[in-house]
Amino acid sequence: MPTLSPIELCTPRLKLRWMDERDVDAHYAVFSDPDVARYWSSGPWTSLDQSRDHIAATQAAYADGSGLRLGIALAGTGELIGNASLHRFVDGSRRCELGYALARAHWGAGYVSEALRALLNHGFAALDLNRIEADVDPRNAASARVLEKLGFRKEGFMPERWIVQGEPADTVYYGLLRRHWNG
Ligand SMILES: CC(C)(COP(=O)(O)OP(=O)(O)OC[C@H]1O[C@@H](n2cnc3c(N)ncnc32)[C@H](O)[C@@H]1OP(=O)(O)O)[C@@H](O)C(=O)NCCC(=O)NCCS
Repeated sequence: MPTLSPIELCTPRLKLRWMDERDVDAHYAVFSDPDVARYWSSGPWTSLDQSRDHIAATQAAYADGSGLRLGIALAGTGELIGNASLHRFVDGSRRCELGYALARAHWGAGYVSEALRALLNHGFAALDLNRIEADVDPRNAASARVLEKLGFRKEGFMPERWIVQGEPADTVYYGLLRRHWNG
């Protein structure tokens, strides 16, 4: 697992940064929204403690190098509007998985594409990754579009990989190789 140190990634409209206790309320606002959690196997959060615990786990992952979840904040105001992560590192193969979520009020403005471009640059350059993977519900058209715009390729289909809100849900698996990254 990589050794992680505090970073800030700046884009024209956003700042991606390490998360901490000050983010509990805004992080809860993202993951307690049923629209955001629509394709999440764990469902929407119902208690602030879930947000506190998730941020504590995020900080533990910084410390042991097992995951890099960054808060996505608006550059102008500092408001935390989402998060994006590189996690499940497989050191020997220099690969990991990608995750992301944005508060519903900010969908459709290109923020996640902008944030992921910075995070993928960081992954391929500073973290020396060779491959980044993403697992998407085929009904999640916005997420698939984000990945395809960034150059991810559709690599596989896994039927009923998850149980999402009581129902089996399929996965489309995407991958991006460093040699295909044009960031
Ligand atoms: C998926 C998600 C992160 C997208 O964030 P976003 O900031 O709105 O994404 P962007 O604006 O950068 O890009 C969205 C793209 O999808 C397109 N899109 C949006 N809704 C769509 C739909 N229903 N069908 C097809 N395309 C759609 C947009 O037009 C845009 O493409 P464009 O730039 O070519 O116009 C956001 O919807 C979200 O947080 N969803 C809930 C959490 C989630 O599903 N995370 C991913 C798990 S794999």
